[in-house]
Amino acid sequence: MKRLIILLLLLIVITVQPAYASDIGAGSKIFEANCAGCHINGGNIVRRGKNLFKKALKRNQMDSIEAITGIVTNGKNNMPAYKDRLAAPEIDAVATYVLQQAENNWRPQ
Ligand code: HEC
Repeated sequence: MKRLIILLLLLIVITVQPAYASDIGAGSKIFEANCAGCHINGGNIVRRGKNLFKKALKRNQMDSIEAITGIVTNGKNNMPAYKDRLAAPEIDAVATYVLQQAENNWRPQ
């Protein structure tokens, strides 16, 4: 019985971890392809104050997955909408990546 539980736990670790890792990889790739043009290294070349660093995200109430998926889906002012270019799971992945990078102060990984 104990062995079975250990085996099950192992199986969960093995199956869950790569999925998680590839999500982060996907978010990063989507960002490089679609966002880095304006938001290189977490900045904003169009509107400097609307960057992707933690302080600005907080100030502009953009520090949640919901807020970021919202602006990416529908766009805002000079930021284009991505609802016709990215699928919902891709938008989720890139929003997760942005929040993670903000936590890391956009230091290279
Ligand atoms: C053509 C340039 C451009 C591209 C490409 C672009 N953005 Fe933006 N982004 C902007 C501008 C301009 C704003 C400021 C919008 C406003 O509030 O007026 C902004 C704002 C944001 C904000 C809110 C930041 C804050 O501090 O208020 C987030 C989050 C964001 N963009 C994420 C993304 C993501 C993720 C992508 C790629 C899927 C992306 N952007 C692609 C120009 C761009």
